[in-house]
Amino acid sequence: MGEHAELTLTSTGPKHTEAIGRFVGESLSPGCALALIGTLGAGKTMFARGVAFGNRIPADCTVSSPTFALVNEYPGTLTLFHLDAYRLSGGLELDALGFDEMCESGGAVMVEWADRVEECIPNDHLRIDFEVLAEDTRTLRFTAMGPQSSQIVKKLEQTAQSLLESI
Ligand SMILES: Nc1ncnc2c1ncn2[C@@H]1O[C@H](COP(=O)(O)OP(=O)(O)O)[C@@H](O)[C@H]1O
Ligand SMILES: [Mg+2]
Repeated sequence: MGEHAELTLTSTGPKHTEAIGRFVGESLSPGCALALIGTLGAGKTMFARGVAFGNRIPADCTVSSPTFALVNEYPGTLTLFHLDAYRLSGGLELDALGFDEMCESGGAVMVEWADRVEECIPNDHLRIDFEVLAEDTRTLRFTAMGPQSSQIVKKLEQTAQSLLESI
């Protein structure tokens, strides 16, 4: 397995997806990049909300898909940048937003529709593929693309079962 740790989890409702995200948010370290991939309604924003909670976003902050600003910045344990490439024309526009600086700021980044700007995502990122199985059922496939993201998958592997049973 080495650097490409993999894990697939089944989520049976929005709360599940949010709880998995929360665990990932608690496991972030500076420079972490999360690439969220899946169709509209697959649960990327629900997951992103969990990540922000896990990273201890203040109670008065809201998490939603970035619209006009194109990037949301959430304070917390780490500064967390939330982007949605669906609304971007491509990698050049992501560059223009200062994406590289966000990646190197000591904070963490998460990008919905990351497959649209694949060439801009840091090499060591955690890829999460969301698939819709049924109305309330999703699979979340985690693939670690380097040592930093592998740490998260390994932690998730150890706790996933009890995490999902506790919801
Ligand atoms: N297991 C699940 N995980 C996440 N969302 C789910 C799940 N089951 C149903 N849903 C619903 O699917 C939708 C996901 O929306 P959203 O997170 O905005 O998706 P995306 O950002 O991928 O377009 C929400 O309406 C949510 O209530
Ligand atoms: Mg979304």
